[in-house]
Amino acid sequence: MSGGIARTSATGGRMLPALLEWSSSLSLDRQLVREDVLGSAAHITMLARQGLVATDDARDLRVELLVLYREASEGKLALADGEEDVHMAVEAELGRRLGAVAGKLHTARSRNDQVALDLRLHVRDQAAQALREVAALIHYLADRAPGEMDILLPAYTHRQRAQPISAAFQVCAWATQLARAAEVVDFALERVDVSPLGSGACTGTSLPIDRELVARLLGFPAVTKNALDTVGDRDFALDWTWAAARVLLALGKVAADLVDMSTSEFGMVRLDGEIAAGSSMMPQKKNPDIFELVRGKTARGIGNVTALLTLVKGLPSGYNRDQQEDRQTVLETAPLLRGTVAAMMAALPHAHFVSGEKALAEGFTQATDLAEALVRRGVPFREAYKQVGQLVRDALDQGKTLAQIESDPALDPRAAVAAKESTGGTGPSSVKAQIQALKQTADRLIARADRVPSFDALVERIMAEAL
Ligand code: ARG
Repeated sequence: MSGGIARTSATGGRMLPALLEWSSSLSLDRQLVREDVLGSAAHITMLARQGLVATDDARDLRVELLVLYREASEGKLALADGEEDVHMAVEAELGRRLGAVAGKLHTARSRNDQVALDLRLHVRDQAAQALREVAALIHYLADRAPGEMDILLPAYTHRQRAQPISAAFQVCAWATQLARAAEVVDFALERVDVSPLGSGACTGTSLPIDRELVARLLGFPAVTKNALDTVGDRDFALDWTWAAARVLLALGKVAADLVDMSTSEFGMVRLDGEIAAGSSMMPQKKNPDIFELVRGKTARGIGNVTALLTLVKGLPSGYNRDQQEDRQTVLETAPLLRGTVAAMMAALPHAHFVSGEKALAEGFTQATDLAEALVRRGVPFREAYKQVGQLVRDALDQGKTLAQIESDPALDPRAAVAAKESTGGTGPSSVKAQIQALKQTADRLIARADRVPSFDALVERIMAEAL
């Protein structure tokens, strides 16, 4: 370990090697090297334009930063150990390649605004990709629902059979929660999309910088409003982990339903062998491991939110090194979320609804429909409710189904589903409207994600900017 760049005589000699190594974030930060280099390329462009660095020097630095970007993209950039973080490691690498001119890059910049930038670029990029993938999953669910209008299942409350629904309606329920979670990702994307560069260590700079130019080059629509707030702000990371947890929770519910529905007790969903796992001992087993794991991954998603909340709680204003502990949490979030979304995308086409009509045949789940039929004939609801309750009691006492002791069209589960056309209900027209709305939401979210420039597009934009 060397770790000399960010030290002066005032700092004093060298840090104990063991402590430098222990306190370095480089092992994780390496994952942010492209973000770091992009930020530096935009920054040096601005410095040249403002006359703070000579054009030739800026050109040399920008070209070499582009080389670093390409090497990093191809997995060929090996940043040496021995620095406190990726920012120092990149500056040290530039120094090895270009000599003293590398020392001009950090003009009007601190690692405090730099790390905020790297994290924001990372979160924005990953949130946009995740948003597109979640929206694709919503589209998948919306597309399969019409084919499942005629499959009937019981809906549950308190995990007891409640009322008949179509499988399409169940699928729309899943997609509706997922769309709500996707809106939170959209919110996180909106919040993160602000440039922190130019905040310096905590108060800005006396040098004549142009924050708006840097923001434009990096595709940010705005710059942050207060330098002291900016360097201590990890709200964008919190929003991102929270958004990820919300998507994971939504997927966890789909998974929990499928685990139950595919049991022989429920018998409402059949899983293809392609997504089932076996038992090492019990030859008969066909287990829903993928869905159990999806449900299980939620724990880590929630853990990441908790870790970040706990990290920022009690921190005073300004940058605090504690903030470096955000790294693991933030960097883990995208692969956790996107991996789980991809697993669901791969697995769901292999989960097929089979009819749940056996569970509906004894008629008790249509009891409310019978009561509503009586209401339509003028009976006050509470009276109808009591009458039907008595019928259910009689049927149970006689060991019969409701349909066997009372013949009423309302007891047909198919008719019961068809009649529930209130907005948001399980009736076919209502479900069609839900499917339409889901598709519109998904399209809007995809359009939002598409407005986020890729890293490669940013490179082109920066390199095209005159120095
Ligand atoms: N490694 C630091 C982090 O990840 C970068 C900022 C350090 N700033 C400082 N003044 N030591 O948060």
